[in-house]
Amino acid sequence: LAAATAATLAFAGNAQATESCDDGEIVIKFSHVVAATGHPKGDAATMLADRVNKEMDGKACMQVFPNSQLFDDDKVMEALLLGDVQLAAPSLSKFEAYTLKFRLFDLPFLFQDLDAVERFTTSEAGKGLLGSMTDYGFMGLGYWSSGLKQFSANKPLLAPTDANGLKFRVQTSDVAVAMIEALGANAQKLAFKEVYGALQTGVVDGQENTWSNIYTQKFFEVQDGITETNHQLLAYLLVTSDEWLNSLDEDVKTQFLAICDEVTAAANASVASQEADNRKRIEETGATIRTLDADQRKAWVDTMKPVWAKFEGDIGTDLIDAAVASNT
Ligand code: LMR
Repeated sequence: LAAATAATLAFAGNAQATESCDDGEIVIKFSHVVAATGHPKGDAATMLADRVNKEMDGKACMQVFPNSQLFDDDKVMEALLLGDVQLAAPSLSKFEAYTLKFRLFDLPFLFQDLDAVERFTTSEAGKGLLGSMTDYGFMGLGYWSSGLKQFSANKPLLAPTDANGLKFRVQTSDVAVAMIEALGANAQKLAFKEVYGALQTGVVDGQENTWSNIYTQKFFEVQDGITETNHQLLAYLLVTSDEWLNSLDEDVKTQFLAICDEVTAAANASVASQEADNRKRIEETGATIRTLDADQRKAWVDTMKPVWAKFEGDIGTDLIDAAVASNT
């Protein structure tokens, strides 16, 4: 795309401009639900688009649509099959309609940190799961980490019993529901774009998400505080339709997949620091962040970890063992 013809189209309320494509270029539309910048997924999507638009100029052209402006995670899978978009990166918690194997990633207190996640997702066992939805026409191109999740609520949470009777928003994941119910609390599945309003109006009392989502969506503004539980992973599957991928000329496909692999590795390498930065930004607003000592943390682990047993059959103990082994 020649600089002079790089007319851009700015969307209302969104600083990011969308690349305009030239005739003859394969248009790759990427729809996601988070902030365009300052967020691991938003930044990774931009990095991918920048590289495709530079290195595949004349062959392919990528446009990124952040902030649920095009589709929410529920609709985007259908949009991939219809060819309305070519790339998405919903969280691994949102694929239950297509595979139960990804329930693995939702098991509370499975991964001790993001390095363990990286070890697992780049292992043979982890990579093997990328193709677990081909029966439905989807292909995973890589795992994008986003961070470990923290709880927030409209009252202080220090012991798991503090959550008794509260209602928490969860993603569309039965593991998350079981985990919330283990706290003696109620779970409500809601789309990401509805969370701030639901917290603000009291439709739900609390939520669980990463520092980057809590900061960029401003959830901290409408909560009493955030408790640093690091209880569960949030990671995404960079996903496309098999049909679209296989429609590409072999050289185009090879180049595109190589760029995806490099961007995935680069993006994952900076997630931990982005998360730490967004934690700090929340702290700087004066919002309350509660940390747990070892005994307090153990109480959360003891309360939530028993839900693993319920999902072992869906996931397979071999896979669980492989993920656990990545902690060391
Ligand atoms: C959520 O729904 O909380 C997350 O999956 C949003 C996201 O993409 O980070």
